[in-house]
Amino acid sequence: MSVEESNERYVGETRPRGTAILHHVNLKTTRKEAMVEWYVKVLNMRVNVDVGLAAFLSNDRANHRLALTTIPGITFNENKRFHDGVHHTAYEYATFDELNELYLRLRDEGILPKVCIDHRTSWSYYYEDPDGNMLEMQVDDLGDWDLSTQIMRETTSIENAPAHFFGISVDPEQIAAARAAGASFEEIKERTAAFEFSTGEAKDYNTPEILPDFAVKW
Ligand SMILES: [Fe+2]
Repeated sequence: MSVEESNERYVGETRPRGTAILHHVNLKTTRKEAMVEWYVKVLNMRVNVDVGLAAFLSNDRANHRLALTTIPGITFNENKRFHDGVHHTAYEYATFDELNELYLRLRDEGILPKVCIDHRTSWSYYYEDPDGNMLEMQVDDLGDWDLSTQIMRETTSIENAPAHFFGISVDPEQIAAARAAGASFEEIKERTAAFEFSTGEAKDYNTPEILPDFAVKW
């Protein structure tokens, strides 16, 4: 289906009647206890109920945003990165400072992100849970869903995409140091566009070199 066809059913920003929105993710796991502990720590989730075979967690008013299910007979898939299915789930902060504080908190507990990217529409730190599922912890780069959506909609092909459309890798430690030294998020984004905080590998993801990273690291 084309971009245009998918948009025809909307009237401005009004969704067609009967549109459901994302409510929760259910992950199968062979190590439920470690997963529960990790999600409670990283996402400040609360366990609303744990019935042994499954735990239901949430960090807002929904009765659960995450289910962790352990089904007898399932096996750990150590090669999940190379199979189809979910690539990552994403969780959003309202402010850059909260994401930066998450990085510092987890770093001090020995949990480091796998890759950090300023996507120019979102500022994203990617973490692996104990099963190797990827999570994207993000904040909207523009602080405004309408603006970042507009950028996406105005990008009709890779040829007219904004600079660094897929993003620039950043070193979260350097970012945290810049913030601690008083740099604002706006200033940090400007300095990122000049590659000041790059990790030195795959600095700009607007290249075919993204593919090995995408398959292996993300
Ligand atoms: Fe994502």
